[in-house]
Amino acid sequence: MSRTLRGARALHGDDVAVATPAFATVAPDAPSIPGYLEQVYSWAYVTPRAVETFEREWLVNAILFGNYARLRDAALDELGRRVRGLTLQVACVYGNLTARLLGRLAHDARLEVIDILPIQIANLRAKLPADGRVTLRQADASALPQPDASVDQALLFFLLHEQPEAVRRATLAEAMRVVRPGGRIVVVDYHRPWRGHPMRGLMRMVFHRLEPYAIDLWHHPIDAFMPRDVPPAAMIRETYFGGLYQKVVITR
Ligand SMILES: C[S@@+](CC[C@H](N)C(=O)[O-])C[C@H]1O[C@@H](n2cnc3c(N)ncnc32)[C@H](O)[C@@H]1O
Repeated sequence: MSRTLRGARALHGDDVAVATPAFATVAPDAPSIPGYLEQVYSWAYVTPRAVETFEREWLVNAILFGNYARLRDAALDELGRRVRGLTLQVACVYGNLTARLLGRLAHDARLEVIDILPIQIANLRAKLPADGRVTLRQADASALPQPDASVDQALLFFLLHEQPEAVRRATLAEAMRVVRPGGRIVVVDYHRPWRGHPMRGLMRMVFHRLEPYAIDLWHHPIDAFMPRDVPPAAMIRETYFGGLYQKVVITR
């Protein structure tokens, strides 16, 4: 039986609160699904069919023009070769990012992963080995359940480009609120490619047709969406693949 079929009940159901043995699972407060996910991203995340279609590493890699492993590892390296303390992954992703992160977790470290969609939480649970250091919970990135300054580091991997501006601002504000002073927020996402980039026209068309909020990251740096009341201690940006992608490391 395939992994997807084994996960089928979870993929269709609301049983996110049912704990897999040795997985710490927190009962959801059941935040409602944001309109932009239902209306814009149903094809990618919301339906069982979407999960079955996109949960393929080769496909995720193709969507990123062969850069998946490089971007994943660039993000993970910022969290540490050995990841310590409490790490918060804000939103699930297709592929093996979380499994690789788990592989770097120190024995007394912890990982919390949140996502707004129960189907994505269930899909991630089916991909991970049972591990008591990991907590999966349904939550909204723009209204995180974690207390202030309770997290050592947070990871936002290709989340911000999918969010309308107000939600993106709230997500960054929430990450700044929950990460402790001196802790880090690692963002990997789209960025405006250099003039003459061979994928520039194609990506503009993809954004126009499928990902309407993503173009904001071509027009503005991540700084533009940061909360004004909590200035970060540092923000360092690195770009990849002719500028089409960026990694921004924010020190709280
Ligand atoms: C992080 S992005 C990752 C996209 C990436 N291309 C991939 O490979 O999966 C997609 C995830 O973000 C989640 N998401 C979007 N808006 C959210 C929000 N406000 N709170 C929590 N999760 C959210 C979606 O449910 C989806 O699982």
